[in-house]
Amino acid sequence: MLVSAKEMLTKAKSGHYAVGHFNINNLEWAKAVILTAQELNSPVILGVSEGAGKYMCGYKTIVGMVNGMLEELNITVPVALHLDHGSFEGAKKCIEAGFSSVMFDGSHYSIEENIAKTTELVAITNKLGISLEAEVGAIGGEEDGVIGGGEVADPAECEMIANLGVTMLAAGIGNIHGKYPANWTGLRFDTLEAISKLTGDMPLVLHGGTGIPEEMIKEAISLGVSKINVNTECQLTFAAATRKYIEEGKDLIGKGFDPRKLLGPGLEAIKATTKEKMQLFGSIGQA
Ligand code: 13P
Repeated sequence: MLVSAKEMLTKAKSGHYAVGHFNINNLEWAKAVILTAQELNSPVILGVSEGAGKYMCGYKTIVGMVNGMLEELNITVPVALHLDHGSFEGAKKCIEAGFSSVMFDGSHYSIEENIAKTTELVAITNKLGISLEAEVGAIGGEEDGVIGGGEVADPAECEMIANLGVTMLAAGIGNIHGKYPANWTGLRFDTLEAISKLTGDMPLVLHGGTGIPEEMIKEAISLGVSKINVNTECQLTFAAATRKYIEEGKDLIGKGFDPRKLLGPGLEAIKATTKEKMQLFGSIGQA
């Protein structure tokens, strides 16, 4: 059964590790991430962007698929199904469809409007026991057409949003979605520290997990980051493994064209990347 992300993140915050949020794109993606979490006895969050939601034929399809997997694969570790960078309407749709966690990204609104809309969703999600992620300050890079400028959040605004009663808070600290540019100046730990001080026990979320050096990840966790989002890195390793299979002509040997074989190396690559991240984040054995 899907669970809210609240308990796993509270435990992560007090235990000084982070839970991985891995974006999913299809059945293979969800299967790879869920199986890895079970094998490593780790809690996990499956992230679904609105674009990926459309691609997978809507939120209800995803809820059905993931719930089915949890039952049929006898999954016992905590798994949350989470809307990533949701709009206000998207968040409501996911709640209706049976997601156990949603993000409302109001970072492009004025702080007043972000507060008003987040407040409304706090009331709805609290009543249903669903976890809610809010965001302050746009995160850089491009994801599904959403472009941010690598902004850095205002700690005072973070405090305001945290006090609304959200479960977790994403704040821009110089992080960027996708690959980092060569001239990237790194995470702003001064800002993260200031946000941490003002938001107390609130689990903080680090977006743009792909390509952040290990030492920076560890420092971010030590300063209160309890959820780290990874998307692009699984896409890159999936694509590389699939490319290798085709370039080696394996699809032309015997029944190598069977999608269950063709997509196998990509699935294993997602599993390996997920494992690597769970090791780095410290969530292994914490289910
Ligand atoms: P990356 O694609 O950079 O890993 O970012 C993922 C993310 O933050 C999803 O919200």
